[in-house]
Amino acid sequence: MNEFWIAPSILSADFARLGEEVDNVLKSGADIVHFDVMDNHYVPNLTIGPLVCEALRKHGVTAPIDVHLMVKPVDRIIPDFAKAGASYITFHPEASEHVDRSLQLVKDSGCKAGLVFNPATPLNYLDHVMDKLDMILLMSVNPGFGGQSFIPYVLDKIRECRRRIDTSGRNIRLEIDGGVNAKNIREIAAAGCDTFVAGSAVFGAGQADDPNRYDSIIRALRGELAQART
Ligand code: DX5
Ligand code: ZN
Repeated sequence: MNEFWIAPSILSADFARLGEEVDNVLKSGADIVHFDVMDNHYVPNLTIGPLVCEALRKHGVTAPIDVHLMVKPVDRIIPDFAKAGASYITFHPEASEHVDRSLQLVKDSGCKAGLVFNPATPLNYLDHVMDKLDMILLMSVNPGFGGQSFIPYVLDKIRECRRRIDTSGRNIRLEIDGGVNAKNIREIAAAGCDTFVAGSAVFGAGQADDPNRYDSIIRALRGELAQART
């Protein structure tokens, strides 16, 4: 099993100070930056695109950037994100007419590729493409907004997905996204996830003007994860 990664979702960061927010959360011990792209079409919200990803790279962010595409169609924007410095690019299979082609496009662009499953989306999209995946992202809320509650039945899906990954023998990260916090992260890890998106739980922590404001929440999440391993 992979080491645990904490992936703060910048959706809940202060966009007016985004570079500083990302610097602070990485300084506090986050592993990877989760970057939510919404198009007001596939999901009912509108966020950030490749220019912002590129701006973070220019600002000096060297950590992996985990681009979660909630857009339809997906193919047009994939090469732009690759050029903008994305490390992982994940997309929802319902948003692509040709899932295999979109995965290949991500890989040909030089990025790691992943599929994202909404809570009620069945896992059978995985059946034929395990060898093309570097990440599987399970949504534990319906996509579109931060600050929603974790949907408990997704725990069964995590276990099923962990079985599929282990059976494949491939090194595929299993990421969870939505409603993750210090109270439930241990149970989510025990079910089989190794990568944990947390938006409001991280960026809502501490005092706004304190550069170390994220230390204690990241420490708390890691402390819970350490106990999941024992
Ligand atoms: C929701 C996004 C999430 C969101 C998670 O569509 O994909 O990444 O930022 O936010 P929290 O952790 O607040 O549920
Ligand atoms: Zn996300």
